[in-house]
Amino acid sequence: MKDILADKNIVLGVCGGIAAYKSAELLRLFIKKGAKVRVMTSKSALKFIGEATLAALSGTSVCSDLFDAETADDGAAIKHIEWAETADAVVIAPATANMVGKLANGIADDALSTFLLAVTAPRFICPSMNTHMYENRAVQRNLDRLEQDGYAILEPGSGSLACGTVGPGRLPEPHEILALVTAGLTPKDLASQKVLVTAGPTHEPLDPVRYIGNPSSGKMGFALATAAADRGADVTLVSGPTVLADPPGVELVRVKTAQEMYTAVMERFADLDILIKSAAVSDFRPDTCCDQKVKKDKAADTICLARNPDILKEAGHAKKQQLLIGFAAETEHLEIYATGKLKEKNLDMIVGNLVTQAEAGFQADTNQVTLFFKDGTHATLPLMEKAQLAHVILDHIRQLPAR
Ligand code: C5P
Repeated sequence: MKDILADKNIVLGVCGGIAAYKSAELLRLFIKKGAKVRVMTSKSALKFIGEATLAALSGTSVCSDLFDAETADDGAAIKHIEWAETADAVVIAPATANMVGKLANGIADDALSTFLLAVTAPRFICPSMNTHMYENRAVQRNLDRLEQDGYAILEPGSGSLACGTVGPGRLPEPHEILALVTAGLTPKDLASQKVLVTAGPTHEPLDPVRYIGNPSSGKMGFALATAAADRGADVTLVSGPTVLADPPGVELVRVKTAQEMYTAVMERFADLDILIKSAAVSDFRPDTCCDQKVKKDKAADTICLARNPDILKEAGHAKKQQLLIGFAAETEHLEIYATGKLKEKNLDMIVGNLVTQAEAGFQADTNQVTLFFKDGTHATLPLMEKAQLAHVILDHIRQLPAR
């Protein structure tokens, strides 16, 4: 499956703010996803970022002047119309107070503002400015109006700004803007579906500083939650300890142990349409956990274990309308073990992978899996990015017979 941005025509609008330097990185991220990007700037943007940088990264000339015939593809000076007609998405990052004000009031006095009036494709605005400017009532009024007019607004981040103030106004990082645009352009084929995804390892404490765990990074589960939310689902992500950032648009419940994960999943289970259990849950926990750090000269030589609840198996017994998807990370006999779990846990599909394989499984950004279905069929997928694999898994879930 191609990335949603692959082959899309994106026009990146850059206005004259200090954050304009970040637009070069954003442009690079769009290009890496396979998009074709053209850059249109306000006049003052070129005081902050070099035209040559934007032209080199986009591979095409930059438009900053409505009457500059050189940058019109057909030699005619009507690029604001031609670019508007061919755009699949327009992203303004950074958007200054001036540009926000012009757009909210239909003013077209330069290339970018004129072009924007002619655009019918989705438009994403990333305002960035001094905190007092951002909080100014006129700017807020204009942003509200743009939202009503159908622009998607990405709220600026808070922090210490280049102008010396501390507060909202910082342009979000390029990867966050990329995530917003990706979500905005993804078809909403899971709208109204309630999806719960589990991710990461669980940590089973021996004492306050030691635990039994495993090397799961949570990347697969976070990718699934993000992809499902981008496709319009109402997503809850129940995650064990990970270092990953909270995915936007997802309800995140952080847990530590298998028992906490069990409670978080089962509390929500009755209302779900789809449960995807990608977490690497620890099957055992130490049967006692000491309140204080155990001193090594006082420690026993053996650890007694207690069995954790098998969350997926219990969900399998309790299931009604829910589709249940499990994961099987194995080191051998993938088909035998995965299909065994599919049956034993009453699943609709199981995602199997050999964790011994290079670039697949724990911690990697890529994975290579085989999907096993209830009717005895399977589909072996090629090695791909976990973000892309998440969408392929969701495509297969959509094809599962409804319960
Ligand atoms: O049986 P096994 O633990 O290998 O099965 C793996 C699948 O079961 C995964 O989807 C995992 O999230 C889930 N599981 C669970 N509760 C456990 C152990 C595994 O939900 N205690």
